[in-house]
Amino acid sequence: MANLFFEHSTRTKFSFEVAVKRLGGDTLNFDAESSSMSKGETLEDTLSTFNALGIDIGIIRHSDDSYIDAVKEKYNFSIINAGAGKFEHPSQSLLDLYTIQEHFQTLENLTITICGDISTSRVASSFIKAMKHFNSKIYLSGPQELMPKECDLPNYCQIKDIDKAMAQSDVVMFLRVQHERHKLFELNIDHYNKSFGLNDTRIKLLKPNAIIMHPGPFNRDVEIASHLIEHKQSKIFKQKENGVYTRMAILEWIVS
Ligand code: CP
Repeated sequence: MANLFFEHSTRTKFSFEVAVKRLGGDTLNFDAESSSMSKGETLEDTLSTFNALGIDIGIIRHSDDSYIDAVKEKYNFSIINAGAGKFEHPSQSLLDLYTIQEHFQTLENLTITICGDISTSRVASSFIKAMKHFNSKIYLSGPQELMPKECDLPNYCQIKDIDKAMAQSDVVMFLRVQHERHKLFELNIDHYNKSFGLNDTRIKLLKPNAIIMHPGPFNRDVEIASHLIEHKQSKIFKQKENGVYTRMAILEWIVS
């Protein structure tokens, strides 16, 4: 398996590597910055090189929303999408679903709030698409500038004030503001945490059996107060652990 990350990653890249190793496979770790792309080699030529090296699986992350269309079915190896621009992050969505299922023993009849930078989030995009298979409700909260258009949302998804949403939710997932994807959005950190982040006031709204999630990386004291990251209802580090099991399952499914 080759980890072919053309955009930075910690969790996804290394949990795929741990998953492959636990399954008895080998990993090649490609580093875009020190690769021959700095000499002008294209994405396609880089992938053709790994094809010639004889890899079985390429785990690819790229900042282009539609890179997968350009490369799928072109090579002899299977491709796993490890994050495509603002569009898709399917393995994250599977590990999020697994974490919720593990806690509630179901993905049905839940109320789930996603709060933060929704419009450019591939985590939110993949999660919302996955939830069409279940009879649950999704609320989206956050700054108006970072919300999708209401008319683009499926019928199980609606925009709601964070405090009202949180008081009704079984799952509250906070997302990072992705400055790299919309540089014009000015963020006042103190204002953001008070208005949209998890803090000591807002945590009081959390239902006793609700869980807190965040895909990471998180900005401490922005979308979540630093001391609440390891709150007893937080599944944030469980999500990272579950990322390994989920990715082992994805790899086994592809190989078999
Ligand atoms: N959640 C996630 O995709 O994290 P990384 O960017 O570190 O892989």
